[in-house]
Amino acid sequence: MVWLRLWAFLHILAIVTLDPELKRREELFLRSLGFSSKPNPVSPPPVPSILWRIFNQRMGSSSQKKKPDLCFVEEFNVPGSVIRVFPDQGRFIIPYSDDIHPTQCLEKRLFFNISAIEKEERVTMGQLELRFSQNTYYGRVFDLRLYRTLQITLKGMGRSKTSRKLLVAQTFRLLHKSLFFNLTEICQSWQDPLKNLGLVLEIFPKKESSWMSTANDECKDIQTFLYTSLLTVTLNPLRCKKPRRKRSYSKLPFTASNICKKRRLYVEFKDVGWQNWVIAPQGYMANYCYGECPYPLTEILNGSNHAILQTLVHSIEPEDIPLPCCVPTKMSPISMLFYDNNDNVVLRHYENMAVDECGCR
Ligand SMILES: *[C@@H]1O[C@H](CO)[C@@H](O)[C@H](O)[C@H]1NC(C)=O
Ligand SMILES: *[C@@H]1O[C@H](CO)[C@@H](O)[C@H](O)[C@H]1NC(C)=O
Ligand SMILES: *[C@@H]1O[C@H](CO)[C@@H](O)[C@H](O)[C@H]1NC(C)=O
Repeated sequence: MVWLRLWAFLHILAIVTLDPELKRREELFLRSLGFSSKPNPVSPPPVPSILWRIFNQRMGSSSQKKKPDLCFVEEFNVPGSVIRVFPDQGRFIIPYSDDIHPTQCLEKRLFFNISAIEKEERVTMGQLELRFSQNTYYGRVFDLRLYRTLQITLKGMGRSKTSRKLLVAQTFRLLHKSLFFNLTEICQSWQDPLKNLGLVLEIFPKKESSWMSTANDECKDIQTFLYTSLLTVTLNPLRCKKPRRKRSYSKLPFTASNICKKRRLYVEFKDVGWQNWVIAPQGYMANYCYGECPYPLTEILNGSNHAILQTLVHSIEPEDIPLPCCVPTKMSPISMLFYDNNDNVVLRHYENMAVDECGCR
């Protein structure tokens, strides 16, 4: 069980540090969370405000005991369990000469390495954001063209018509800080890395507006303050199955201190050396199960039929058959905001991270 591994691992790691056996356990645990190795952000980008907003909403709803749907992202109204924000790794394409393209502000190749999305995940949303972080050119008008690169030629980044396909051509006025483009279908095809040759973005100053100042000034501003990122929502069908029906237990008052029950345990990520890649939360109430499962098992101990039988056999043959164990019977997920192995910002739920109820099994 993930939980037992987590608990054993965190406890030991808190006491001793980085003995090879522990490193191996940490690796095992990280692998069960879906990491090939411990993320070590090199140049972590800032966390997009949208992810903070969603994360905080989820933290709020979990404290209100309202169960969040783990396989639907309400904020975007799409199915999904993982939200990632990929930074742009493309470069500016230097114009051949100012004389040839006197009216062009910028031409930039956009590239998002989405290889962190696993094969079995289904992309349900892909959204490109162009953010202009200054208001100095407030209200000025530009023309924008966005192409998908189909082929990379040696001469230049897909300048010829056959090597790129026009996706969007629009005029925009810089009133808002961001422009968004729907790239859902394109992201789906990019799951095959051979098809991911990126995009090309071109921005031109609109002729009518150039009386305000020289085109050069406007262009310099837009080039300096442009930030591009790709947000994806994906659904892992293996993890998003229909929820199981809840079992009902009768609630009897019971207060013996050494009896099987849930104990409080707050895990702080700083204590296990994860503070540089886990952005939030800083820690969480993980809890654990501890205590005896004595004969006869009362209802509050939530014993399975098998456990009840085992205590019976134990009372007859105490030497050979042990008592059942006190283990988690109900667990809940937590949301984590973190940097993955490629410095992407990721928001996702992890199942079975906190113990809600214990029982004898
Ligand atoms: C994308 O990232 C993966 C994992 O870091 C890396 O192996 C791969 O070479 C990258 N692809 C490109 C085109 O940069
Ligand atoms: C984005 O495009 C996909 C298909 O290309 C469509 O199903 C989806 O509804 C679009 N999303 C939005 C927010 O318009
Ligand atoms: C058994 O389940 C009930 C609720 O279903 C819970 O209140 C109780 O604490 C559980 N027993 C233990 C030992 O955790």
